[in-house]
Amino acid sequence: MDLLRWGRSPWGEWVLTHVSWSLFWASLFAGVLFFVAHASYMLFSAHRKRSAAETDALEAAHKNLPIKIERHNLTARLFHWVMAAAMFVLLFTAFLPVAGIKFAWVQWHWIAGLVLTASILFHIVHATFFLDFWSIWVGPKDIPELKAELLREFGHEVPGPKPGKYPLGNRLYHLAIVVTGLGVVTTGMLMIPRIRTGLVARNPYYLTDATWGLTYVSHGLAGVGLVGLVIAHVYFAVRPEKWWITKSMILGSITRRQYLEHHEPSRWPVRSGPSSAAKPAGQA
Ligand code: HEM
Repeated sequence: MDLLRWGRSPWGEWVLTHVSWSLFWASLFAGVLFFVAHASYMLFSAHRKRSAAETDALEAAHKNLPIKIERHNLTARLFHWVMAAAMFVLLFTAFLPVAGIKFAWVQWHWIAGLVLTASILFHIVHATFFLDFWSIWVGPKDIPELKAELLREFGHEVPGPKPGKYPLGNRLYHLAIVVTGLGVVTTGMLMIPRIRTGLVARNPYYLTDATWGLTYVSHGLAGVGLVGLVIAHVYFAVRPEKWWITKSMILGSITRRQYLEHHEPSRWPVRSGPSSAAKPAGQA
C-alpha cells in the first residue's frame, strides 16, 4: 500500500504530490480502536481519584479554600471553543470529500484555517503572558508522577504525587496537538497564495514543485494525525468520569472537593479566600 502519492513535474521529474487517503482511513480506524480499547480497559481499571477518607482529611486541612476554584478563565474558554469549532470545520471540509461527499470545500476550509491560525496565535500570547505557562508542559520533573500513575494503573495503592493543574496524559496530549497543530497551520498558511482567496495575490509558482509536494504531504500528514487526536479528545470529554473537567471548560470552575480529589495542592496552589472563583496563586 502506497502511503504517499507521486506525480511528474513539467520537467519530467517525479515529485511528491499528496498523502494517500488510505492514511485518513487508518487514522480514523486508530481513533476508533483507541476508543474501544480504552473503554474496555476502563471496565476493569481502578478509579484513580483519592479515596473518600483521604479527601475528607484534606478538606478538613484546607477549610480556607473557596468552594469553587477557577480552572479556566473566560478568555481561555472562548479560545478553546473557537478553536474547536474551527478544527471541526477544517476536518469535515477536508475529509468529507475523501469519504465521497463532494462539495466546494476549499473556501470553507481556508476561512476556518485563518480562524484557527488567529486563535492559536492569540492562545500563544495569552498563555505566555497571562496564564501559568509551564503548567501544561512535560519534563523530567514529572517522572515521579509517571511512576505513581503507572503503578496505580496496575492496581497498586501508591502514595506518589497527584497531578498539578493538568494530569500527565493531558499534557502529553497537548504536546501532540501543538506539534500537529503547528504543522497544519504553517503548511496551510504556505498554501494560501496557491488558491484564490482575494486576500493575497495568487501565485502558485512561488515554491518549486518538490517543495509544494512536501508542503501538501506535511499538511496531509498533520491533518490525518488530527483525525485520531480529535476523536481521542472528544472521547475523553464525554466520558462520565471526566464530565467535571468538561463542565469546567464550559462554566470555568471546579468544586473544592474535585480539586482535592484529583490534584496535588502543592503542585497547583490556589489562593485561599471566600471568593466563589478563586484565582490560582501567582495569577493576576
Ligand atoms: C484540522 C486542521 C486541518 C486539516 C485536517 C486539514 C486538512 C487538509 C487536507 C487533507 C487538504 C488536502 C491536501 C491535499 O490535497 O494533499 C488540505 C488542503 C488545504 N488546506 Fe488544510 N487542513 C487543516 C488546517 C488548515 C489551515 C489551518 C489552513 C490555513 C491556514 C489550511 C489551508 C489549506 C489550503 C489552502 C489547502 C489547499 C487547498 C487546495 O489546494 O485546493 N488548512 N487541508
